[in-house]
Amino acid sequence: MKKISIIGAGRVGESTAQILAYRDNVHEVVLTDIRDGVAEGTALDLQESAPLFGFDTRVNGSESNEAIVDSDIVVITAGLPRKPGMSRSDVLEANLAVIRPIADDVMKYAPNAMVILVTNPVDVMSYAFWKATGWDRSRVFGLSGVLDAARMASFIAMETGYSNLDVSAMVLGGHGDSMVPMISYTTISGIPVSNFLDADTIARIVDRTRNGGAEILALKKTSSANDSPAAAVATMIDAICHDRKRILPCVAMLDGEYGEKDIALGVPVVLGSGGMEKVIELPLSDEEAALFKQSSDQVTKDIELIS
Ligand code: 2OP
Repeated sequence: MKKISIIGAGRVGESTAQILAYRDNVHEVVLTDIRDGVAEGTALDLQESAPLFGFDTRVNGSESNEAIVDSDIVVITAGLPRKPGMSRSDVLEANLAVIRPIADDVMKYAPNAMVILVTNPVDVMSYAFWKATGWDRSRVFGLSGVLDAARMASFIAMETGYSNLDVSAMVLGGHGDSMVPMISYTTISGIPVSNFLDADTIARIVDRTRNGGAEILALKKTSSANDSPAAAVATMIDAICHDRKRILPCVAMLDGEYGEKDIALGVPVVLGSGGMEKVIELPLSDEEAALFKQSSDQVTKDIELIS
């Protein structure tokens, strides 16, 4: 991959650019932001760390989305973050007004890019972007379950004392209060997590996972999470850049999978050089299927607001 652009040089955009630069896997990372000097200053600051962190990735910034020209991947973080006490859906209208012109810019300047949505509510924003561009679903997907599953895995590692490296978690559904942490597909070294934690502890971790973003927002007060979302985006980009064919839970446009059509929802997908290459359908228990449907209904309600 030669060029990755990040539209929105806020905390998530900056942290994502930082990780990509430090990994030194791409020729150029571009940050754009409508706020005067923000993207340029952020990019220059990162660029000046290059001799110390030992990377040759060029980091550039601009107020204009023209700077994303010919990007291979475009990450969209621009928009209003929610405030403490707000749900992600509370910023839907405001962020839809941000995403639509960005879709026009991406079609104009980076017509062959893959696009990773981060802006919340990310399921709806991914759907809106996909509809606005009419692009194949392999090229438009969103950050959800990679972040939520990482949070759940970290909670399990904290609770058990076992290594984060050995915990593998799965979270499906909308990236919101209705998300579906999938205990039956969560393991420690391949061993079902129910072998290590009792039902009450698991329920507490599931609840904490659902509220993962809100917990950080309540603590930080003036900004939501940025390090874990950035790490999740970088993980998705790494899978694409290296054609790893990773199975990761992301917001994808469904076309009959899980009995859902014409909706964006968090499901396990294969991420590789072709982008979202395949949706993986997991067998769900009756309870899991019911929770997934509830989540789908919630996202459908939000999508109906924008149609
Ligand atoms: C989060 O959960 C930003 O939605 C993202 O932190």
